[in-house]
Parts: sequence; C-alpha cells; structure tokens
Amino acid sequence: MKNKKPMFISLEGSEGAGKSTSLRFIKSWFEDKGINPVMTREPGGTPFAEEIRELLLATRSEKVTSDTELLLMYASRVQHCQHYIIPELDKGNWVISDRFNDASFAYQGTARGLDNDRITELDQWCLQDFKPDLTLFLDISVELGLKRARLRSTPDRFEKEDVKFFEAVRCGYLLRAQNEPDRIKIIDASGSIEQVQAKIKSVLETYVDIK
Ligand code: TMP
Repeated sequence: MKNKKPMFISLEGSEGAGKSTSLRFIKSWFEDKGINPVMTREPGGTPFAEEIRELLLATRSEKVTSDTELLLMYASRVQHCQHYIIPELDKGNWVISDRFNDASFAYQGTARGLDNDRITELDQWCLQDFKPDLTLFLDISVELGLKRARLRSTPDRFEKEDVKFFEAVRCGYLLRAQNEPDRIKIIDASGSIEQVQAKIKSVLETYVDIK
C-alpha cells in the first residue's frame, strides 16, 4: 500500500499502550519529511464533538446504556468527518486521528457486547465506506497496560472498567487487525519507548510514501 495522496491515519491502543507519546513521534516523523499533519482525536475533534466527548467520558451515577454510548460515538464521528477530517483531506492535508471507528467495534462491540453486524450497519449509514487508509494498533498486555495507565491522572468512565473489559477490548482490536491486515498494523507496545518508536517508524516507512 504505497500512497502519494494525503492519507488518513488512525492510531488505536489499549489502555496504557502509550498513544500520546506515539502520536508525538508520528507527528515528528512527518515533520522531518516536510509535512505538517493535522492532528485530531475521537471522540471529539470539533467543538461540538468535543462536547459529546465530555458527555461520554464523565463519570456519572446514571448507567449509560451501550446503545447510547455507541450512538454518541457515531454522532461525534459524523460531525468530525464532515466538518473536519474530509475537508482537511480535500485541502491536501494529511490527517492523523487518535482513535477512529475501530474503537467502536472493540469497545462498544467486543467489550460492551453489541452485535458486530449492527455496528457495521451504523458505520455504513454514517460513514459510507470512509475509513482510515492506515491504522496502527498499539498492542500491550492488559496487565502491563493497566499498570502503566493507573500511574496517570483520575480515571474517566472507561478507564474505571475492569480487567475483563480491557481483555475484550484487546481481543476486539486483534480481531479487526486479523480481518483487515492490509489496513491495520499491530505494533508491539510492551517494550521501551525507543523499541516501540522503531516499530512505528518501520511501519510508516513501509506503508507511507510522501514523495
Ligand atoms: P482516549 O482515552 O483514547 O482519548 O479515548 C477516550 C475513550 O473513549 C477510550 O477509553 C476509548 C473510548 N472510545 C470508545 O469506547 N469508542 C469509540 O468509538 C472511541 C473513539 C473511543
């Protein structure tokens, strides 16, 4: 998959996989090649979608149903795609998103238990066939990931889930990667920062052609 048009790239990862550090590395890899990519995230990415993000992440006493969660993820995503990602790609900019639709299949699908076909139907309705050209999945064991993640700030509504939930999230991502090996590249995120960055660099050098 060599591509000279600007690409839409997403980065996914389990809790504690080191997404933020990796995003900074990816941005600097592009900058070294004279490209200033647009960095964005999900849920969120536009002012309204960021408000939806706040609703989704806030800890609350009322139980949020899995369907509500899924629909809000896609409400945010449609807003993000139509008002930000697609216009930026049309302008010729490279777009890198901290998570995209694979997260809904892993979190709301495999982990919350919503039916994969229903999510696919919603995905099709909301995005037609739009998806990232390349997705990097930072994979780490749940045990190590949670150990790293829990050293950080106050957990949000998702970060409060248990080990079983995160095991399912990881399985969901690995299943997606198995089904779409050309698009989704698994990066072993269990090593040192330098080791992980070397793996990311190798994937970028293989699948991204910016000449
Ligand atoms: P973040 O912590 O990576 O910024 O993402 C916020 C949380 O939202 C994270 O726990 C994963 C979750 N999430 C979903 O459950 N479904 C989705 O579709 C997306 C994009 C994120």
